[in-house]
Amino acid sequence: MYKSIIRPILFRFNAEWVHRVTVAMLRVAGSVPGLKQILRAIFTLDDPRLERQVLGLRFPNPVGMAAGFDKDARVYRQLSVIGLGFVEVGTVTPLGQRGNPRPRLFRLPSDRALINRMGFNNGGVEAMADNLRGRNGGVLGINIGKNTDTNTHDAPADYLKVFRRLYEFGDYFVVNVSCPNVAGLTAMQNDESLRAIVAPLLEFRHGQEEYRPVLVKISPDLTFEQIDGVISVVTELGVDGIVATNTTTSRAGLRTSERRVEAIGRGGLSGRPLTERSLEVIRYVRAKMGAGYPVIGTGGVMTTHDALAMLDAGADLVQVYTGLVYNGPGFAKKICRELLAREE
Ligand SMILES: Cc1cc2nc3c(=O)[nH]c(=O)nc-3n(C[C@H](O)[C@H](O)[C@H](O)COP(=O)(O)O)c2cc1C
Repeated sequence: MYKSIIRPILFRFNAEWVHRVTVAMLRVAGSVPGLKQILRAIFTLDDPRLERQVLGLRFPNPVGMAAGFDKDARVYRQLSVIGLGFVEVGTVTPLGQRGNPRPRLFRLPSDRALINRMGFNNGGVEAMADNLRGRNGGVLGINIGKNTDTNTHDAPADYLKVFRRLYEFGDYFVVNVSCPNVAGLTAMQNDESLRAIVAPLLEFRHGQEEYRPVLVKISPDLTFEQIDGVISVVTELGVDGIVATNTTTSRAGLRTSERRVEAIGRGGLSGRPLTERSLEVIRYVRAKMGAGYPVIGTGGVMTTHDALAMLDAGADLVQVYTGLVYNGPGFAKKICRELLAREE
């Protein structure tokens, strides 16, 4: 029903507007008595065989919501009732910011893709803390970043501010240095900048009672040599895991007309065109880090087959974003059903 009726209607409207309406509807769903239970009954598959122990946490299933959908942690509880085993909120920055001018989110239906240049639009760390006060529910990751106006030199202080303020709320944290829509951010994946950002976080954690895993999210546009650089920092500092990958700036091999792609302009491409590259990066990271090192795979999971391929490539967990837009709210359950079928 989603693909034949709902999606064609939604795709007639501006993509960011549809996103806003979806979030608003999810918020309503959370406050209507009984509706969450109904959604859970329709969209969730509970089965102990789907459970995963990763990062010292118990995930009810390995299919999560990727960062960027619920930037301010407004609907993280509702996302778990549509079958997602965990939710990564953010990217959150110290101060609230509007992000880039609109339009900044575009669909490329013939490529089953999206291009976005949102630019970390979010309400800031205090707004997220408010939303997470008294939090309950499933596994929650918090994806952290720097304000657009913060220069590279001061960036580590931004990451630390967000980490400290939200430390009590997250089950795990992701250092986002791979978003192509914030000037200079992806350049901070180099050894020196990454060390400068991550080391203070781990130092802060050292003094805390609770241990919160810290992961680094990497770009698909890194060369293997650059990935080696990230891996050496990750290994040296004892970073708990890697999230691979963010969106790409590449426009190679698209079916959408060149004119349309040019008219859309800059931004990160997600969805089908990213699948192969994400798999390649995950395979590489897995081979380098060896078995047992936590890897969260994301990027171009558009079918159940893609999700299984990502797990086979070495991801412990997968995250979806563009795949949900194209497949609708039943997508996570469909992947889980396929996972169970494979085990039988
Ligand atoms: C509209 C949009 C906004 C995003 N915002 C963020 C973000 O704030 N932080 C982040 O780490 N990744 C962000 N991402 C990237 C996703 O988390 C994911 O890594 C990427 O889209 C690849 O997965 P997909 O092909 O399943 O969409 C965003 C993606 C989209 C489409």
